[in-house]
Amino acid sequence: MEDAGEFLSATSGAPKAWSEPRVLVYGDAKEVARAAAERFVQLCREFISGEGAFHVALSGGKTPQLLYQLLAGDEFRSQIDWSSVHVFWGDERGVPPEHPESNYGMVRRELLSRVSIPRKNVHRMEAERADFEQAARDYEEILRRLLPTDAQGFPRFHLILLGLGLDGHTASIFPSGSGWREALGWVNVPDVESSGVRRMTLNLSVLNAAYRVIFLVTGDNKADILRRVVKDREQRLPAQCVRPVEGELLFVVDAAAGARLRGTAP
Ligand code: 6PG
Repeated sequence: MEDAGEFLSATSGAPKAWSEPRVLVYGDAKEVARAAAERFVQLCREFISGEGAFHVALSGGKTPQLLYQLLAGDEFRSQIDWSSVHVFWGDERGVPPEHPESNYGMVRRELLSRVSIPRKNVHRMEAERADFEQAARDYEEILRRLLPTDAQGFPRFHLILLGLGLDGHTASIFPSGSGWREALGWVNVPDVESSGVRRMTLNLSVLNAAYRVIFLVTGDNKADILRRVVKDREQRLPAQCVRPVEGELLFVVDAAAGARLRGTAP
């Protein structure tokens, strides 16, 4: 394990000088999943002992599936007090829960169906509803009811897990979408479709209100975009704009995705 950058940690109030976010590089995707599972358990314990609950927004896509499988396994499942964990989603596709594209469906299959988390602690985005906007407003109400807010009034997750798309998107905040930088709501329905499916997403301000944000990035196809996101000082892409205001940002990546992080070559 190497630490390829300095920690971008909370310095509340002071203007955040740009510094490269912290990146932990592991041998392969399995080691990434294990490192993430260990941090998940550590953060669970920290926040449950400190605040009585652990509010986590999970990521969709393929990368986190190994992590969810580990957390559901004998080694990690018993280390977590699931009765105090509240699970949310960073984004969802506009499909029913049983659809193969559903992020909720994937997490239910890989994790929730195998741990003793109370149903009332599982808060999925109802992105399949015909009234998409109302479904987004209803999700905001859940956040308003369950989460504390930061000084700017945005809901604070203890942990938000994120993935990184090849175009620099994260959650369902796509560079091709309009208004993603200044979106005012907490939950948005961007005017983009990905693989022909509408999306619902937490907006950038909610991502940046989190106590901890962890990106999981693996695979050599992500090496170029990861370098841009970690090293590029301009913030042109959604993933480049994830800079927690009072929180900590961490990239947990495998050697293949991290292959271009060393050196200063553009
Ligand atoms: C989604 C995710 C999305 C994902 C990236 C990376 O709903 O698909 O929220 O942001 O994290 O596209 O996806 P992979 O992990 O499959 O590469």
